[in-house]
Amino acid sequence: MERAQSKRDSGYQLKADLEGNYLIEKDHQATKTVGIFYAPSGGSVHKVARLIKQKLSDLHPDLFVISDIKPLQLLDYRCLILVCSTLGRNTWEMEQRDPWSSFLPRMLRIRLNGRKVAMVGLGDHVGYPNHFVDGMGILGRTVEEIGGQLIGMTETRDYVFNDSRALREGKFIGLPLDEDYEAHKTEARIDEWLKAIRCAMAEF
Ligand SMILES: Cc1cc2nc3c(=O)[nH]c(=O)nc-3n(C[C@H](O)[C@H](O)[C@H](O)COP(=O)(O)O)c2cc1C
Repeated sequence: MERAQSKRDSGYQLKADLEGNYLIEKDHQATKTVGIFYAPSGGSVHKVARLIKQKLSDLHPDLFVISDIKPLQLLDYRCLILVCSTLGRNTWEMEQRDPWSSFLPRMLRIRLNGRKVAMVGLGDHVGYPNHFVDGMGILGRTVEEIGGQLIGMTETRDYVFNDSRALREGKFIGLPLDEDYEAHKTEARIDEWLKAIRCAMAEF
C-alpha cells in the first residue's frame, strides 16, 4: 500500500503487464528538454558526455551516469542523448562489464514514445574494425523497440572500418567517436553533429 502510494506521489503512472513488470503509461509527460545519459564513468565516454553538456549549455541539459538512475528518469526528457562505448564483441549481451548491459533489459519496461533520442558511440576503429561501435547499434535497437525516435544519423565517409552493428542503410545510427586513435577529430565531429541535432530537437 505504502509502495503504491509512493509511486503515485512520484508523478509516474504505473501499471503491470502479464509478467508483473511495471510499465509506464504512454501519456507520461516529459517536462524537461535535454537529458544526457552516459556510462561507463571515468573514461572517454565520461569526457565526451561532459563536452556535449558544455556545448549545449544554452539548453541547460542534465547529465546522468546511468548507474545512478532508474530507467524511469529517461521519461522526464523530450530529447535524450545517450553516450556509450563498446567493450568487447559480446559484452553487451553476455557480460556485465558495461553498465549499459544491465540497464538495457530494464529499459524494456518503459516506453519512449514522443521522445527524440540521439546516440553517441565510442569505439576503436584500429583494434576493432569489424565491430566498430557495435554497442551503439545494440542500444539503438532497444531504443526503437521501446518507441524512441532516433535522430542524428552520421555519414560513414569520415570513418575507416570494416563492419559495424551501428549501421542502417549505409549510415551510422548516431555519432561514432574514436578517442583512442582519432581524438583530434572528436570536437569537430561533435560540433557538426550537434548542428543537426539542434535542428531535430527544435522540431517539436
Ligand atoms: C576490452 C575492450 C574491448 C573493446 N571492444 C571494442 C569493440 O568491439 N568495438 C569498438 O569499436 N571498440 C572497442 N573497444 C574500444 C573502446 O570502446 C574505446 O576505447 C572507448 O573509448 C572506451 O571508452 P571508456 O574509456 O569510456 O570505457 C574495446 C576496448 C576494450 C578495452
